[in-house]
Amino acid sequence: MKNTDLGLLTTGSLTLQEIEGLLESALRFKSGDDVSKPLAGKSVALVFFNPSVRTRASMHVGIYELGGNAVVLEPGGTSWTLEHRTGAVMDSDKTEHVAEFVRVLERYCVAIGVRTFAALKNWEEERTDPILNAFARYASVPIINLESAMHHPCQSLADMLTIREKLGTGRKRVVLAWAWHPKPLPMAVPNSFALAAAQMGHDLVIAHPPGYDLDEELIENLGATVTNDIDAAFDGADVIYAKSWGSKQFYGKTDEDVATRAQYRSKWIVDEEKMSRTNSGVFMHCLPVRRNVIVTDAVIDSPASVVIDEAENRLHVQKAILARLLGG
Ligand code: CP
Repeated sequence: MKNTDLGLLTTGSLTLQEIEGLLESALRFKSGDDVSKPLAGKSVALVFFNPSVRTRASMHVGIYELGGNAVVLEPGGTSWTLEHRTGAVMDSDKTEHVAEFVRVLERYCVAIGVRTFAALKNWEEERTDPILNAFARYASVPIINLESAMHHPCQSLADMLTIREKLGTGRKRVVLAWAWHPKPLPMAVPNSFALAAAQMGHDLVIAHPPGYDLDEELIENLGATVTNDIDAAFDGADVIYAKSWGSKQFYGKTDEDVATRAQYRSKWIVDEEKMSRTNSGVFMHCLPVRRNVIVTDAVIDSPASVVIDEAENRLHVQKAILARLLGG
């Protein structure tokens, strides 16, 4: 029986009540009130096509703390290169198809986590999350998105938990602020942050330079205010969530994106002057972050910065996700 609808590809599949339930569960794990071991005797596969510190370490530790065992695989590194396209003639560089990879792994493991970034080459293709969805298509166990081309739900749930902890319940003015970075980056984190913030009922403002819009289909129903005015966006903010991402129009044309974004370097950075416009707001970033590029030392080292607590919350929220998916 297929039950990948029990996995987590995006928070879009969760109701507000389910998100609230996960946050409450995460807080019980964090406080030590919940020391249950729902993964005792079970293994979870973690498949990393891309590098990671927080996701890899926190998933590994979380699975251990729930009594389970993590099996980490790196296609093209410590495991075979993987093809995901249906009907592919595999006469080039790919050794194994996701069809066999997934169905073998689920004979050993009760769930599969997958990290597969956007390649930033073909927007129309990558926005459909083809690799993640290939895993979901062939799996009979829950698939957990550990950051795909379009979404990073574990990060956004940790972000929502952090906002709840730092600022309490209720509607906050939450600003997702594009920042300059020397090269274009995927938009999974900003997509998922925007989606989750809207699901939680926050007053969401998205600030980015012209041409750096997030996915229209995702954004159109979020009720967000979108602005190209970075200074005005900071006014009265309770949360500044900084992130850089690439322009959809330059997928496959990295040099054009790099040349275009150069004009935004000095202005689109989180600094003390901009933070002074906020409502004593907190500074958030998913990490890794480039200091004095995305955010100044003065801001990230200030009491307003909650980035380390935010990273810690990855552990607690992922334990809540694993317990919900696999604890039955
Ligand atoms: N925020 C985040 O996902 O960090 P890693 O890329 O280090 O896992």
